[in-house]
Amino acid sequence: MHAMINDIRMAYTDVGSGAPVLLLHAFPLSGAMWQSQMAAFQATHRLIVPDLRGFGGTDAPPGPYTMDQQADDVAALLDHLGVEQVTLVGLSMGGYISFAFLRRYPQRVRALVLADTRAGADDTIGKARREANARIAETQGAASIAELMIPSLVAPTAAQSVRDTLREIIVANSPDGIAGALRGMAQRPDSTPDLATISVPTLIIVGADDTLTPPSEAQILHAGIAGSRMVTIPECGHIANLEQPAAFNAALGAFLG
Ligand code: MLT
Repeated sequence: MHAMINDIRMAYTDVGSGAPVLLLHAFPLSGAMWQSQMAAFQATHRLIVPDLRGFGGTDAPPGPYTMDQQADDVAALLDHLGVEQVTLVGLSMGGYISFAFLRRYPQRVRALVLADTRAGADDTIGKARREANARIAETQGAASIAELMIPSLVAPTAAQSVRDTLREIIVANSPDGIAGALRGMAQRPDSTPDLATISVPTLIIVGADDTLTPPSEAQILHAGIAGSRMVTIPECGHIANLEQPAAFNAALGAFLG
């Protein structure tokens, strides 16, 4: 499905019925990374799964795509669908966008799932790495970004089929979209001060072998968000929902009820 959202054509999936759950994908992927969750939960929940600005079937206008812009896009999509409140699930970049969404639309979040993400902003070295990768995307294409990133997206034990799926999703993205998101993530503010203000039920999920946003980062979220639950998935890297879907869905299902 597509809708005109904030002057871009946005692709999204809206399946199932029940309490709405909004799934925000990681970088440099698309809504396609949530296939296992769509299959598992559409009998009990309404799942709204956008391809975020720059990714999948959604337009990739010139960046940078700030997390605020991405949050505004998602809010406008919910308006378009007539959905007021959601359980918000964000993995990695999806988590960064979730923090922006919470700042801008707190009343629209009924419950929160933060997976393989962090509250902190990029340091100087991190920002420089983003710019270097944006130039690689622009000059060498999405396949170069896939080669560069896949080893850090999964645990060393990950099956080749998981790596192949990630590659397929990444190479379908436009270089401009990848660059726009990298430059937007580099600009994101520190969300650590927000943690103490989060009062909705919150679940934190992390892969035990996540090297990009390791369990120590999840622990900071868990310690900062009062009453939050935390689940660590063994033999699992950064894109936990795709690498270990059964364990991820068990944690998510127990939380969603
Ligand atoms: C992601 O998975 O969304 C990215 O790895 C996040 C990041 O680069 O900070």
